Amino acid sequence: MTTLLHIDASPRPGRAGTDEHGSHTRRLTDHFVTQWRRRRPGDTVVRRDIGARPPALTTVEWIQAAFTAPERHQPWMREVLAESDTLVQEVLDADVLVLGVPMYNFSYPAAFKAWIDNIVRVGRTVDFDPSNPEDSFTPLLADRPRHAVILSSRGDHGMNPGGPLAHMNHLEASVRTALGFIGIERFHEIAIEHQEEGGERLDASIADALSRVESLVDELQQSREPVPACA
Ligand SMILES: Cc1cc2nc3c(=O)[nH]c(=O)nc-3n(C[C@H](O)[C@H](O)[C@H](O)COP(=O)(O)O)c2cc1C
Repeated sequence: MTTLLHIDASPRPGRAGTDEHGSHTRRLTDHFVTQWRRRRPGDTVVRRDIGARPPALTTVEWIQAAFTAPERHQPWMREVLAESDTLVQEVLDADVLVLGVPMYNFSYPAAFKAWIDNIVRVGRTVDFDPSNPEDSFTPLLADRPRHAVILSSRGDHGMNPGGPLAHMNHLEASVRTALGFIGIERFHEIAIEHQEEGGERLDASIADALSRVESLVDELQQSREPVPACA
């Protein structure tokens, strides 16, 4: 059985196309999960709405707790790390991360960065060995193949790879770097553009993104490796 981790980072609660002023990225993640479940209803979908409830920012207490060996944890440290532990476990359990991530000021919203900061954890998702300075980090999620599907939306356009404004897009590359650091290696990226302009160009971009989501679901479900087949 495959486990999907469905994350939405848009603070806008509704879905574009359904709700007034709804979120385009929520529309894409919903489409992905709906298409997935159509053919594999027995798969597990874990939902984490960080747009509605952003994870806590890192504090000095969090840093102290996260960099203390678990056997030396005091009760307050376990408390401080409780949310991070939950978020880490969700990623460890997932085969496919379905990430709805709007572009905010050329990268992702603060809530998504807070999620990243909570899941990149020494001893949980990455190991650190200072005695080996040439290769001190070991990604712990390389134990099995995991996919990250980055579903984005932008007000502007021309920010896809090779586009005239691609150099201003720091979103997907940053997600790839952080998740790659902990061992997630298979990335898929689909984005809506022209949100601010609206009209026909937005409509065409939405139609293209929805159709690419459907093709990606087909591709992932049909590939024997690495998405585990439904039991
Ligand atoms: C605070 C904020 C910053 C934004 N920054 C950018 C930006 O740098 N580039 C861009 O193309 N669009 C930008 N936008 C537009 C959003 O990317 C666009 O509205 C997108 O559809 C938001 O995702 P959502 O529809 O899922 O909420 C910004 C929007 C907001 C609210």
